[in-house]
Amino acid sequence: MQVVGGSASPRLAAALAERLKARLVRVETKRFPDDECYVRLHDDLTGAKVVLVQTTWPDRNLIELLLLQDAIRSFKVERLTTVVPYFGYARQDKQFLPGEPVSARAVARLIEAQSDAFLTVDVHAESILGWFEKKRAASVSASADLARHLRQFSVDFVLSPDEGRIAQAAEIAKALGVPSDFLVKERLGSEAVSIVPKRLEVEGKTAVIADDIISTGGTIAAAAAELKRHGAKRVLAACTHGIFVKNALERLSAVCDTVISTDTVENPTSVVSVAPSLAKHCR
Ligand code: R5P
Repeated sequence: MQVVGGSASPRLAAALAERLKARLVRVETKRFPDDECYVRLHDDLTGAKVVLVQTTWPDRNLIELLLLQDAIRSFKVERLTTVVPYFGYARQDKQFLPGEPVSARAVARLIEAQSDAFLTVDVHAESILGWFEKKRAASVSASADLARHLRQFSVDFVLSPDEGRIAQAAEIAKALGVPSDFLVKERLGSEAVSIVPKRLEVEGKTAVIADDIISTGGTIAAAAAELKRHGAKRVLAACTHGIFVKNALERLSAVCDTVISTDTVENPTSVVSVAPSLAKHCR
């Protein structure tokens, strides 16, 4: 097996190669003066089972992924598994208004065209996997990896900030042996949310808010305020995909004691690797 890492996921690709005892392929990536991408593989992949690892956010990384797939296909490989640790555009998983695209479907079709199998992590909506019509597609849960890291914090309680993440919070809570609950969120705009007030038994406790994505930080900030209002002693935020747009991290540091994320989007808070969970699904 050989692992190709795109420039959005170098650490995760290396960690996965190590787990799989696979060769990490030497990849050259550069940008032309007009910002177009150039890639070249410096190892022979003929006959290999290849795992390509590349997060597709922001958009330029999607183009790089398509070029890497094409370069891999220029060898007669036995199989190409495309691993997109953070699958961008997943939140537009349906047509909310007439005239809109189903963005997740458009991206899925592009990726599927050159893959034999597709893997992602904590996909925003499982229904997206259905857009990979001809090939095996799966979403791997990061909950076990997150829970392993969270053990050191003596967590008492896990909270999902909205109804969409109840299962993720419950999985983490189960692994930690603590209770979980959820809030009901209403989105007021792209950066603001409101939370329906709810009684939470967290007085003097350490609580974790678990979410799949932190983007502007609005969701976590609102949930953290609710936990603090109920007397939580310590509030941690744990997400799979830490995008942290604009001043999200600054905004969160005002309301959370710790913010952690996984290496699906590599950033300074990526203290948890999903390589152990991904490796179990790569064949
Ligand atoms: C939404 O349904 C997702 O699960 C996240 O809660 C959301 O994407 C977080 O976005 P933000 O950090 O901008 O509130």
